[in-house]
Amino acid sequence: MTQNLTIARPDDWHLHLRDGAMLEAVLPETARHFGRAIIMPNLVPPVVTGAQAAAYKDRIMAALPEDMQFEPLMTLYLTEDSDPEDIAAAHASGLIKSVKLYPAGATTNSASGVSDFKNVRAALDKMAEIGLPLCVHGEVTDHDIDIFDREAVFIDRVLDPIRKATPGLRVVMEHITTKDGVAYVRDNARDLGATITTHHLIINRNHILVGGIKPHYYCLPVAKREEHRLALREAATSGDARFFLGTDSAPHLDGDKESACGCAGCFTATNTMALLAHVFEEDGKLENLEAFASRNGPGFYGLPVNDGTITLTKNEQATVFPDKIESANGPVTVFDPGYDVFWTVAD
Ligand code: NCD
Ligand code: ZN
Repeated sequence: MTQNLTIARPDDWHLHLRDGAMLEAVLPETARHFGRAIIMPNLVPPVVTGAQAAAYKDRIMAALPEDMQFEPLMTLYLTEDSDPEDIAAAHASGLIKSVKLYPAGATTNSASGVSDFKNVRAALDKMAEIGLPLCVHGEVTDHDIDIFDREAVFIDRVLDPIRKATPGLRVVMEHITTKDGVAYVRDNARDLGATITTHHLIINRNHILVGGIKPHYYCLPVAKREEHRLALREAATSGDARFFLGTDSAPHLDGDKESACGCAGCFTATNTMALLAHVFEEDGKLENLEAFASRNGPGFYGLPVNDGTITLTKNEQATVFPDKIESANGPVTVFDPGYDVFWTVAD
């Protein structure tokens, strides 16, 4: 017996598209199912100014296959030199939908991020004034803080003080990975949302480390203990409007992941919607998939829900996803949930 589920066309509120050959390879994987995505600005060099974001958006649209429709929602990378007036102008023109905060050194291409929060105070105040959300990579980078504790410590030491010092600032806690992140969102009713990735609903830290190191499960923030995965599952599938999908699909060439110093990032664009249908069904919450993937994000950003729909089908046979997609520079491994999934997205 097949089962069908039609939902409003989803959006991805945290996506890495890269540039050049990688952009060409990965963009169709997202545009096939998603109407829009918040595009991460951590290129080298980063997308800091409105002019850089406009040029990047043009490159994305030039790479989009003619038969596909997709709207990139651009972001600016916050640096200590960011110009509040440039940020405001890029927002007023409709070009950007958020500004991204990376603590310096927290993750891939974050060297230009923020070290001293005093130096971004004017930008944050301006964003609060104009209602422009701040998307936060919520991990401290202090060497003495264990990598598995970096999110929880960030909430106490950085995020809460920033929010208290900047009333009205709308914040997205991105790719939360802990029950602490879930609790912080739940305890703070105003001006706060959180994205959750597909892979953090599926893997815990054992998947990375038990039985041999699995570089394709390594991402940042790193997957935590099982109790945290379960808290994320509960939040994502609950229908609570403050939690929405941000895949953090982050492609790296296989050679860069399968290395003595492997890059962080899971590439999930290709099979995210099928995997989410599996996850929500497993938790008896299929009826909330549309809220998580298609409605809560636009609600937070004050945007309309997409007009179109997608239909997910549950088949008798397990779905065969591609192991890899090819780019002109080499293959990129598609995230493997490690179990059979019977859902597909009808084309
Ligand atoms: C991202 C990347 O590769 O750009 N990597 C990741 O592990 N998620 C950066 C990020 O979002 O942290
Ligand atoms: Zn990311």
